[in-house]
Amino acid sequence: MQTERETVDPYAYSNLVALPKREKLQLFSNNGKIFHVIFSQQFTRENLEDLCELADQLRSIAQDTRDGLAFLNSLLRERSAMLYFTQPSTRTYLSFVRACQYLGMSYAEVRDPNVSSKYKGESEIDGVRTFSNYFDLIIMRHHQGGFAEQVAYLMNDPNRSLSLDDQMPPKPVISAGAGSDEHPTQALLDIYTLTRSFRRRPKTTGIDGKHIAFMGDVARGRTVRSLSQLLAGCYKNVRLTYIRPEALKLKDDIKAFLAREGCRYDETDRLEDVLGEVDAIYVTRIQDEYDTKGESAEIDYSKYWLTKEKADRMKKEAVVMHPLPRRAELDPAIDNDPRAAYWKQEINGMWIRAALIASLFNREVQVMHHYQKHHSY
Ligand code: NCD
Repeated sequence: MQTERETVDPYAYSNLVALPKREKLQLFSNNGKIFHVIFSQQFTRENLEDLCELADQLRSIAQDTRDGLAFLNSLLRERSAMLYFTQPSTRTYLSFVRACQYLGMSYAEVRDPNVSSKYKGESEIDGVRTFSNYFDLIIMRHHQGGFAEQVAYLMNDPNRSLSLDDQMPPKPVISAGAGSDEHPTQALLDIYTLTRSFRRRPKTTGIDGKHIAFMGDVARGRTVRSLSQLLAGCYKNVRLTYIRPEALKLKDDIKAFLAREGCRYDETDRLEDVLGEVDAIYVTRIQDEYDTKGESAEIDYSKYWLTKEKADRMKKEAVVMHPLPRRAELDPAIDNDPRAAYWKQEINGMWIRAALIASLFNREVQVMHHYQKHHSY
């Protein structure tokens, strides 16, 4: 006789979604290792250092003749990824595509669910549930904050295929941007960029002890939100200054996180007060796609532009960052300044994403062995 099996109702996740992030973190790990990448709070200092090292190894293996590329291409040849990107994206999308290609993975994309069965009235979660059956990894950008976590919750359910003989193994989900809430892989590439930038300085202590400013829409800039949590949660004596219009001030959840971590932070609308002291500035565009009634038009954002003249007043070794795309807030005249790190951020993004994927599939040791064999002096 068939026994009734317990299944997880993916819609029941609506009961969990309101929990504080720290209470959900264990849902996204497996045997103590990160399995789904949903929030930046999931990462520890050790995770970040390991990923940066793995990314360094991957990029130097790739530069290392055709053998290096052939090795990388064989690493995940039997694995596949679905890139479910239903919110506008080209740079993040392509950087994930290239990360998959370097690792030898096959992949396919969904960019517009309206041309699929959503058109026939299917719910989006049902669509993703179906498509996920054909792949080993789901990489997803979505306009709705909680959607990737809901998918991760569903992917943990061994009975999601509802077939009586086969239990499905859990499948990892990487969020590539979740509404105005989080963008954890951008935070990884930002940490990687800061690490590499500070490494070039003599007597550096890395990110510890640095003063980092965020400028612009710090309320809805998901990259600012995700990076702030990593800086405050994983590094020592970091000081953060948020330069923003009053209407786009930090949201309470991030403030509470910073306070809980004992991180020194200030909010101001005056760049001049800290311009000469910051070790890095992270400029962002106004996120007007999240306006509810055109409120961005009321704001004089030009005060939050980094012009060449302002950049000239910054420290000689300051790091200038921007998640891109930029509008007028970042003067192209700064592009050739050695302090400009935003083009490097994009390349670093591809390698840290490749490192993240290799690590989700436990290929760290293989990479390290190859690296040590070919790069030991
Ligand atoms: C950012 C994003 O999508 O949040 N872009 C990116 O992924 N590099 C920043 C933005 O859109 O302003």
